[in-house]
Amino acid sequence: MEQEALYQLSRSLQKWVLEAAAETRKKMTQPLEIMTKSSRNDLVTNVDCANQAFFAEQIKAEYPMAQLVGEEGANVGAGDWHNGLTFFVDPIDGTMNFVKQQENFAIMIGVYEDGQALFGIIYDVMADQLFWGGPQLGIFRNEQALEQAADQPLSEGLICVNTRMLVTNERQLQQVFVQSSGVRIYGSAGITFAQLLRGNAQAYISKLAPWDIAAGRVLAETLGFQILNFDGQPISMVAKEGMIIAPKQAMQEIIAIMAHSKTAE
Ligand code: IPD
Ligand code: CA
Ligand code: CA
Ligand code: CA
Repeated sequence: MEQEALYQLSRSLQKWVLEAAAETRKKMTQPLEIMTKSSRNDLVTNVDCANQAFFAEQIKAEYPMAQLVGEEGANVGAGDWHNGLTFFVDPIDGTMNFVKQQENFAIMIGVYEDGQALFGIIYDVMADQLFWGGPQLGIFRNEQALEQAADQPLSEGLICVNTRMLVTNERQLQQVFVQSSGVRIYGSAGITFAQLLRGNAQAYISKLAPWDIAAGRVLAETLGFQILNFDGQPISMVAKEGMIIAPKQAMQEIIAIMAHSKTAE
């Protein structure tokens, strides 16, 4: 994409995300319509659906040829994201936090062109923190440019996980946790990425769907984080998969510990 077109995309996405966030805050003053999906802990609300529909409409109007991969049922032309322009939309990330806490949730969009990272945006709605940018633009927290991730040993930083990962992979991950500075669970991939990008946490281990990872991937990889599956291979971003997000040194240590505990089982 030409530089001017990329600036335009950046402006449009920031505008749409801030508009969706303003609507979200407004709707939060009314009772939410809460529905369950696959289980009682898998929620969707009227706001998730309204935001998804809003983004689908904006993207279709400005980028009619683009593919859209969204969590809440608005997948349009979603075939191979390695071809053409693809928007991955998570209209509310951390829906459980949204429902239970009315904070600590995010709106996220990741954009890829022919399989290459182009632009990512994560908005922590209630903290009014916008993380945005891409490899050709740099990465920003609101207007402040963010620095490359510190490449330090596992022992020097905090590890973030999701609850499911903690419960189901406990044995494999136990040594990783022990050798880190400590473990944190934020309940939203977007809020967790915000911690990584700011340098408040070092690594994130989770099982994430394409819309959970797409935006954070653009931002984190640009700042020097690696993203690999538990076998140390690149992720596919076509289905939910286990993954580690960390700078090089910590990544090598985590992969080695996990491989060792696997063979020791
Ligand atoms: C979820 C959150 C959560 C993560 C789950 C995601 P959602 O997204 O990011 O932190 O552990 O894997 O599905 O469903 O609230 O958008
Ligand atoms: Ca969900
Ligand atoms: Ca969501
Ligand atoms: Ca999500």
